[in-house]
Amino acid sequence: MNGNNSDQVPIRKVPSSERIQRIIKEFYNEFGCQPAFVARVPGRVNLIGEHIDYCGYPVLPMALEQDILVAGSLTEEHKVCIRNANPKYVTFELEIKAYDDITITADKDGKPFWYNYVLCGLKGALEHLNNEFSSGLRLYIDGNIPPASGLSSSSALVSAACLAFLYAQNATLNRTEIASLCARCERYIGTQGGGMDQAIAFLAEKYCAQYITWNPLKATKVVLPEDASFVVAHSLAEINKAATNDYNRRVIECRLASKLLALSPETNKDQSIITLSQVQKLLDKTLEEMVTLVYERLPKSIYTKDELCKMLEISEEEMDKLYLTPNTRHLTEFKLKQRALHVYEEALRVEEFREICVQSNMNGKSNGSIRDKTRSSGDENEILTSLGKLMSNSHESLKSLYECSHGKLDLLVDISSKLNVHSRLTGAGWGGCIVALCPNENVKNYIEKLENEYYVEHCNIDKNKAKSYIFATTPNYGAVIYNNQ
Ligand code: GLA
Repeated sequence: MNGNNSDQVPIRKVPSSERIQRIIKEFYNEFGCQPAFVARVPGRVNLIGEHIDYCGYPVLPMALEQDILVAGSLTEEHKVCIRNANPKYVTFELEIKAYDDITITADKDGKPFWYNYVLCGLKGALEHLNNEFSSGLRLYIDGNIPPASGLSSSSALVSAACLAFLYAQNATLNRTEIASLCARCERYIGTQGGGMDQAIAFLAEKYCAQYITWNPLKATKVVLPEDASFVVAHSLAEINKAATNDYNRRVIECRLASKLLALSPETNKDQSIITLSQVQKLLDKTLEEMVTLVYERLPKSIYTKDELCKMLEISEEEMDKLYLTPNTRHLTEFKLKQRALHVYEEALRVEEFREICVQSNMNGKSNGSIRDKTRSSGDENEILTSLGKLMSNSHESLKSLYECSHGKLDLLVDISSKLNVHSRLTGAGWGGCIVALCPNENVKNYIEKLENEYYVEHCNIDKNKAKSYIFATTPNYGAVIYNNQ
């Protein structure tokens, strides 16, 4: 990982920022030596395209300024010592031999320990290195992405740990390779995540969102309208998607929907079909045609496990093995129509959102770079309204078809809507944050009103405290290694 190639994770001089200097100092206080490097991986906010990455459809996230920092130094001993700047997170040490020896177990309530995310990253790195490594590591971790908020703090932690270990072993890996590796290794935690969080963490660029496509993984810049601001607000309902089976349940419902949609003479029972995008490709239909097909081929609101086994001509054991996950095997009823409809319609919304951004960017420029002063504020409003409506529709679909919202998220979205601001839940849902699209000139007012109407009046939170739960954000850089050598 020499960082000179633009495909590789960049290596930069250690900045003089207060936070980086602090982690270096604290590392020294903890371990009695200087760190050799600091790995930085950002959190993300997804603008649109929720719960469709694992179905093979493009998503449109951007990286946040908030991040996970991992300071590391090498040790001769084959041991990893893990410390967190926040004293509420216990320290952990383990001897490393082979990736198979790293077991990732949850606490008695089924919730992962914080360091399990670090272990996922180490396990993935070791697997990638075929267990060939020369040194152990001391790691000191500091994060400012609010945890359990749907802003990808867990993925940033997995990715930063994986990146730190690989860098320490001098591995060469380009950004798309490491993003895919981190998506795979996060699944050791037990959730079948799609890869969006890791992709944006490594492929993000400042000033633009990214349109992420899969197989092969690729990020294409999307310049957002100049007068658009994105505001992130926490609902104060915390979500840990690895602690319940909600997330995996949606993943497998989409898998089962794909299997049923592919049950036709045209597809000849193609065994490899597992995602909704694969069925679309196979049937050579548009997204709109897939929506129609869902109504035709998945008419029921609930499918039982028994009837699915009959329809797919498989035994229950085969179904468990082929399509379900350990934490979804006991389920007996599945909603396939609702989930598939959300996915195909959300995929359409992503295309529309991107198209509007591309058009607005083309129309807004003259001589290729200077914004056309003749464009009226009426045009600008229309663009933001169109984008906003797509976001509101996305939320409605996540709430009613995908059933992954939360009363508190819905309330935030409703209050925003009364303030003429479109918004939607972002990330996995079931709690966490909303992302709102707000014209630049209204941001201050919107934040002020949300502080009062949601945090102070509804949640009984002190106004000053409320400020820490809501922020305006712009697209930020992806992962980087800081090292002065
Ligand atoms: C989580 C997962 C992502 C994605 C989102 C929902 O963040 O890690 O892969 O599925 O939920 O869009």
